[in-house]
Amino acid sequence: MIGGATGRFALGDFLTRWGPFARHDLSGSDSETLGLEGLLQMASAENAARWNGHSFAYTDPRGHIRLRTAIAARHDSLIAEHILCCCGAQEAVYCVLQALLGGQNPVRDQHALLLLPIYQPSELALRRLCAVTGVALQEADGWQPDIECIEAAIRPETRLILMNYPNSPTGASLDPQRLDALVNLCRRHGLWLINDEIYRQTEIVQPFGRAPMLADRYERGVSINGLSKGFGLPGLRVGWIACCDRALLQRALTVKSSLSSCIAASSEILAEIALDAEPRIMATQREIALANLHYLKTLLPGLTDLLELDHPQNLAFLSCQYRGGDSAASFAIRLVLDTGVFVLPTVLWQSSLAPVEHERIRLGLGYRRCGAALEELAGALHASRTAA
Ligand SMILES: Cc1ncc(COP(=O)(O)O)c(C=O)c1O
Repeated sequence: MIGGATGRFALGDFLTRWGPFARHDLSGSDSETLGLEGLLQMASAENAARWNGHSFAYTDPRGHIRLRTAIAARHDSLIAEHILCCCGAQEAVYCVLQALLGGQNPVRDQHALLLLPIYQPSELALRRLCAVTGVALQEADGWQPDIECIEAAIRPETRLILMNYPNSPTGASLDPQRLDALVNLCRRHGLWLINDEIYRQTEIVQPFGRAPMLADRYERGVSINGLSKGFGLPGLRVGWIACCDRALLQRALTVKSSLSSCIAASSEILAEIALDAEPRIMATQREIALANLHYLKTLLPGLTDLLELDHPQNLAFLSCQYRGGDSAASFAIRLVLDTGVFVLPTVLWQSSLAPVEHERIRLGLGYRRCGAALEELAGALHASRTAA
């Protein structure tokens, strides 16, 4: 059994086990990584001076006021006091869950709903704190939250719903109308709603429009985000919690203080530079991913009996239905061993809480090198058909 039931991080295990065989890597969901030199070239004179003069002192545990102000400015009506910076998005998820559920009477008295698939460390963090009911997103419903199913799963002791939109590995964006319905449901039942929005920067806006950031829409809504994916800066370890409930942020800060004192001063300045340069960074990242997507579309027409692309909703990665004779997981392992092409089967997001679509693979599109890797993938698929 892969996944939540074993209490293991299956995706992490898979990367450790098979990653060393990768020569053409399509496993990532981040974007072309920026280097120090490239980032500093985008700095304003003021930020460049701050960079040159900064020390490695402790900083504000909540995140530097300038950084929090820059993050708040991305929202409709939030201010710096509504932001708590963390060491990456995953630390942010952990702190919010602990702040809402930790220190109570775990398991017996509390319950949460988890929309699946979700990044497994979030599932594991939640399951350590309370009883959890999984609600699987369905392909037939465009991977949108099923309001009736969610309502049916709510219990008197339910405290929160945790989800990830734009979603990995499906790539699905959240329909704004469905978000409205979900917020209304949460309001009626007094539930917190937490959305991991780390793939928001690479979202492709769909005909149904773009859902707002949750913290802008709901007083008990928590938006998690960071610089690890669309910005191409996972090594900075800058993530954040955005929420207009300051008491929750205060509790999350207490949890965070057990994990890390503050973000590195260097990361804070570089994060500010990146947020300042967001339009420029995103234009380049989009150009790279769109070129990869376009190239993939030219490569796949003769291969759709083996691999069927979903309608793209995110530039970071694409989900595909695998139609070969074996499972998507066996295919992925065979592929990396035989050809060095490294893709992720979606069974790695499997959970014992609810069935998750697993005969798919996720293809990363965020790096310049992905074009050549996609070509290798197409070649390997052609070869596998010839060999069959
Ligand atoms: C949905 C989701 N959330 C969070 C993370 C981790 O983000 P960070 O590296 O900023 O902690 C990942 C990483 O793959 C992810 O896929």
